[in-house]
Amino acid sequence: MFEEILNNKKSISVIGLGYVGLPIALEFSKKVHVIGFDINKEKINLIKNHIDPSKELTASDFENTNIEFTHNFEDLKKADFHIIAVPTPIDKHNLPDLKPLFSATEFVGKILKKGDYIVYESTVYPGCTEEECVPILEKNSGLNYIKDFKVGFSPERINPGDKKHSLATITKITSGCDSEAAENIAKIYEIIVKAGVYRANSIKVAEAAKIIENTQRDVNIALMNEFSMIFNMMNINTYDVLEAANTKWNFLNFKPGLVGGHCIGVDPYYLSYKAKQIGYHAKMIESGRSLNDSMGAYVAQNTLKLLINNDKDILKSKILVLGITFKENVADIRNSKVIDIINELKSYKINFDVFDMCASSEEVKKEYDIQLINDYSDKKYDAVIIAVNHDNFLNFDENYFQKLLNNDGIIIDIKGIYQHKINNLTYWSL
Ligand SMILES: NC(=O)c1ccc[n+]([C@@H]2O[C@H](COP(=O)([O-])OP(=O)(O)OC[C@H]3O[C@@H](n4cnc5c(N)ncnc54)[C@H](O)[C@@H]3O)[C@@H](O)[C@H]2O)c1
Repeated sequence: MFEEILNNKKSISVIGLGYVGLPIALEFSKKVHVIGFDINKEKINLIKNHIDPSKELTASDFENTNIEFTHNFEDLKKADFHIIAVPTPIDKHNLPDLKPLFSATEFVGKILKKGDYIVYESTVYPGCTEEECVPILEKNSGLNYIKDFKVGFSPERINPGDKKHSLATITKITSGCDSEAAENIAKIYEIIVKAGVYRANSIKVAEAAKIIENTQRDVNIALMNEFSMIFNMMNINTYDVLEAANTKWNFLNFKPGLVGGHCIGVDPYYLSYKAKQIGYHAKMIESGRSLNDSMGAYVAQNTLKLLINNDKDILKSKILVLGITFKENVADIRNSKVIDIINELKSYKINFDVFDMCASSEEVKKEYDIQLINDYSDKKYDAVIIAVNHDNFLNFDENYFQKLLNNDGIIIDIKGIYQHKINNLTYWSL
């Protein structure tokens, strides 16, 4: 398979052209022939015009590529090595929603031929690929696993908005259903991943490695959030404490904060779901999740407490929320926990404005029914919540906030950006 792909005798397909799939498809297409498939026709039309709907890539990333974009799954027949990178979200009960994964697997099953490879990149719980997806491939193709087609799992580690760590510069974990598949898959990824690949022992190991990377971050951030709640009650600034503790060589550098997006706040639920299936209640993972999910309401409640402490009538107060995306310097608003702050403010009928130059007003309106403001330069507020540390917000100083705020105004600095910079105004951070 590797030689034939390299010599353009066989092609690669990428199924799902989002944050993960499009960069992989384009990177491979600089070396070999690729078919990029997505069910979203509008997205395919934009991509055909060299526009990345996720706003991570620029037109120059499409240069010197050998790729066909399609929304017709039958075109996948022309490929032999299929990479699946569709979403793996959770439902409203925080349970894995595997519908997109199963649907993509059905598409591939329907066009599968003897000798084909399928590699999953979507984050799943250990066992999902072989226990859930392989039977769908067999059923839809009439072929036999391993004898007729091979499967692998290679989790994605890219970090949206991070220009330093990219697909080519992050070591990639690969795995396969047998030693031949494992080697072919590793070599194929080595074509594009300059940092090299790590050959995991099995598909389950590769699945588990990805899920614990994000679960570890989630649990550690939850611990910081718990520290922050304790120190808040004691009038100790958490960032001061962390700065001091970080002078020890083995203190882990995590910060408190909102945990949104579709990875860190979602993946632990996949692991706890699987754990429950096999009879184990993942106490620490679930506790971390519930604590992190409560932080938006906690921030809003503390804002209101401070307004009352400053003798403000909260129903006449006006709050500015800066940032609505799930993290800094990205356009992605899916699963943003800033919404939890806003919903809590709404529940108290507080007046607020939201500004975010990275987010699309139309998407925010559609997804959350919130009208972003374009400009706040002629307005005054009683509190400003800096919810996301976008680069554009980093250089504000006390003078800036003094002009923005009414008398006795409050700065809520979730990420501690203005630590040590605010001396006179009321300042609070996690
Ligand atoms: N975004 C990240 O930074 C990141 C990082 C590591 C891992 N992951 C994981 O990678 C996977 C993909 O995430 P993403 O952020 O790229 O998602 P995304 O929502 O940005 O993109 C997924 C794409 O798949 C398409 N799609 C959905 N169902 C389909 C189907 N049945 N057939 C074909 N296309 C379909 C959607 O239209 C969309 O364009 C998820 O499992 C995610 O957890 C994401």
